[in-house]
Amino acid sequence: MTKQDLLGAMFKLLCGKLQAGKPVALFEKECAAMLGVERAVAASYARTCLYHLLKALNLPQGSEVILTPITIHDMINVILLLGLRPRFVDIDPKTYQIDPEALESAITSRTKAILVTHLFGIPSPMDRVVSLCEPKGIIVLEDASHAYNAALNGKPMGTFGDAGFFSLSSLKALSTGYGGIIVGRKRALLDQVSHSLEKLRKARTRDLLDIMVKNTIVAFATQRAIFSCLTFPAIRTLDKMSPTIVRKLQTDNPELVRLQEFPDTWLWQFSPLQSELGLKGIQRIKHDDIKRRAHAQILLDKLGPIAPERLPHPPPGSLSVYWRFPFRAPEGSQFARFMSDCGIDVTTTLLPCCNTLPVFKEFHEPMPHAERAVKEVYFLPAEPSLTDDQIHGMADAVTRFLNG
Ligand SMILES: Cc1ncc(COP(=O)(O)O)c(C=O)c1O
Repeated sequence: MTKQDLLGAMFKLLCGKLQAGKPVALFEKECAAMLGVERAVAASYARTCLYHLLKALNLPQGSEVILTPITIHDMINVILLLGLRPRFVDIDPKTYQIDPEALESAITSRTKAILVTHLFGIPSPMDRVVSLCEPKGIIVLEDASHAYNAALNGKPMGTFGDAGFFSLSSLKALSTGYGGIIVGRKRALLDQVSHSLEKLRKARTRDLLDIMVKNTIVAFATQRAIFSCLTFPAIRTLDKMSPTIVRKLQTDNPELVRLQEFPDTWLWQFSPLQSELGLKGIQRIKHDDIKRRAHAQILLDKLGPIAPERLPHPPPGSLSVYWRFPFRAPEGSQFARFMSDCGIDVTTTLLPCCNTLPVFKEFHEPMPHAERAVKEVYFLPAEPSLTDDQIHGMADAVTRFLNG
């Protein structure tokens, strides 16, 4: 979302025009066209997409839902709130996606669904996942929040399983402030979800205004020049003083608590104002994807010959969009400091490794690859607003670091 879009949206909200944007059905139609599917349904968040899908599936209480642990912890909360059990499986350290071998050995008679997260915008090996799950009647859901327009063998991520969903929250490739989109090949399932969503209350001006103000602050604070001089140093200092405050600023459920009930503040209808923002975003996304992929290619070409083991290796047949470009730096803060001295801000993922969180300790199993990834993966900036020269400069800085 551009700053102009955000300021325009705030102005409309202040004039009481929340319901006077573009029809939500039009946004849903354009999303479906973008993803090459028949139908898309808009919701309030990605987590509520999962909630409504799992609810509509009506799985037996205590059923296991398999997923990789690097995700927002509220995905686990949703699973638990519906009386289901999360079962974590590790990632493949080369792709960062679910390891099909680990998946195969985790499947039991209690496994009723799998939630595949296409982490960092890299496709998961869905051909393997589907061929393991489909014959056993296991429902396949996809969280494609990082992977708009990523594809495997020409098929968009989010469209392989029984249903897929995408987040429209801030900083995603397609954003409407907050929101989610659900797609699926089972017409009856989507009808049921859509019916439940119709019963929800309408979004309130104050909810959306709160979101838009937060997004506007994020948009200004993450502007390259401001981010480097002000935001990044401020976050670093604050993080040293109080990591909780930083988490509060960055997420909606910062305490990483186990929820006892589904928050009412997560359940409302997608609004026409968000629809208008989303339609503008759809017009930009193809161009942004091309730029992001081109930037990732520069990094892969320049760093591949010297440090292949530090780079991502997507599954064969993938078209990755690299929403975030992962680079392995076990050197940790030494790498971050070196890059910072070169004027480049690199960060680790904000996503937790949910199997290690104390609030979910009863589901803890060691996931060495995922646990290592959250510690040693740093994101190299590759966003579309950067120039090719800046990306070359960054690859050169990484090369200098590697050459000692
Ligand atoms: C994998 C993944 N899923 C979902 C979300 C966000 O979902 P929501 O729209 O519920 O905030 C995020 C947020 O960064 C994410 O990383």
